Amino acid sequence: MFALTGIGHLVTNDESVGEGKLGVLHDAALVADSSGNISWVGKQSELADHFEGKPTDVGGRAVIPGFVDSHTHLVFAGDRALEFESRMQGKPYAAGGIKTTMAATRAATDAVLAANVARLASEALASGTTTLEVKSGYGLSVRDEARSLVAAKTATTETTFLGAHVVPPDTNADDYVALVQGEMLDACKGNAKWIDVFCDRGAFDVDQARAILQSGAAAGLGMRIHANQLQQGGGVQLGVELGVASCDHCTHLSQLDIDALAGASKTTVATLLPTAELCTRSPFPDARKLIDAGVTVALASDCNPGSSYTSSMPLVIALAVINMGMTCDEALWSATAGGAQALRRSDVGNLRVGSRADLVLLDAASHIHLAYRPGVQQVRAVIRGGKTVVGSL
Ligand code: NIG
Ligand code: FE
Repeated sequence: MFALTGIGHLVTNDESVGEGKLGVLHDAALVADSSGNISWVGKQSELADHFEGKPTDVGGRAVIPGFVDSHTHLVFAGDRALEFESRMQGKPYAAGGIKTTMAATRAATDAVLAANVARLASEALASGTTTLEVKSGYGLSVRDEARSLVAAKTATTETTFLGAHVVPPDTNADDYVALVQGEMLDACKGNAKWIDVFCDRGAFDVDQARAILQSGAAAGLGMRIHANQLQQGGGVQLGVELGVASCDHCTHLSQLDIDALAGASKTTVATLLPTAELCTRSPFPDARKLIDAGVTVALASDCNPGSSYTSSMPLVIALAVINMGMTCDEALWSATAGGAQALRRSDVGNLRVGSRADLVLLDAASHIHLAYRPGVQQVRAVIRGGKTVVGSL
C-alpha cells in the first residue's frame, strides 16, 4: 500500500473525477492498495481521510497512466540496419524484408529469442509502457511460431499468433494458409490470446485473411488485423465485418473505410502506428479526420526490426500530435485508454479506483510536454502493479 501526493497534474482517464476526457485533477493524490490496485484518487487536501501512513510527495510533477502499447513484434533475432540504411537512400519499404528476420529468428535458440523479448520489454518499460501486446510472426513454421509464442509469453499475457505475416519462401500460398489454420494454429493457440493477419500487398488477401481469422476465432482467439498499411484494400472493411478488436496501421484509408470504422467505434478500434510511417517515409494517417468522423483511435509503437524499430510511446505521441492532427489530450488518451480498448481491457490504461496501479511519474508539469519536447527522456519513475519498477519517486 502506498500514496502519492503533491501531484500537480494527475491524468486518470476517468471523466467522472476530473476535467475533460482525461479526467485531470490538479494538486492531487492517489492511493494504491496492497494488491497493486488504485484504491483512491482525489484532491491532496483530502488524502488524510483515505490513507494513514506517510505519502510520497512528487513535488508538483505530472502522473499519467502507464502506456498500453497494443501492437508490437518483439520476438525476433538479428536486425535490419542495412535495409534501413538503403531505405533512407531511396529503396521503398516492402513486406519481403520480413523474410530476412525469419531466417535469423529460425536460426536463434529459444534463449536468444527470450532474451531479445526481455531486452525490448524492459526498454519499453523504461519509457513508460506498462502493458504490452507481443506478436509472433517471424518464425513462419509450426515449430518456430510455437516457440515464438512461448518467448512472447515470458513478457506478457497479451500474446498474438501472427503465423500469417507473409508466406515463407519456397511455399505454396494455399498450402501455407491451410497450415496456419490447421497444424500451426493448434500448436500456437495454447500460448496466444489473439490471432492477427497481415492483409496487404505482398502478404495475404482478404479471402485468405478472413479464413485465417475465422479459424482463430473458432479456436477461441480474439481477432485483430494489419490493414491498409501499404495500400488501400479490403483489410479495414474485413476487420469491421468480423468485429475485430483492432484494425492496425490504417495508413491508406478510403472514405468508405473511415465510415466503416466510425460505425464500428464501440467494437473495433483503429490503431495508428506513426513510427512505422516515420521509419518507412510513408504518409501519416489523418487522425484528426478519423476522430472527427467518430472513429475510436489507439496509438501503438509497432516495435519491429523492419518498419519501426522503436518502443518509445512518448515518440509515438509526439508524432501523433505534430504530424497527425491529434490534440495532446487525444494522443495521451489513445496511447493509454485507447490501447487498452484495442486489447479489450478496462483494468489498465486508466487510474480509476479498482484499476491496476500502473503509472508514470513525469519530470514535467503536464502530459503536454510529451509532444512539446520530442525525443527528451521525461520519465522519472514507472510504477507497475503498485511497485516501482523504473527510477525512483
Ligand atoms: O507491422 N506490416 C507488417 N508487419 C510489420 C513489419 C514487419 C517487418 O518489416 O519486419 C509492421 O509494420
Ligand atoms: Fe505490425
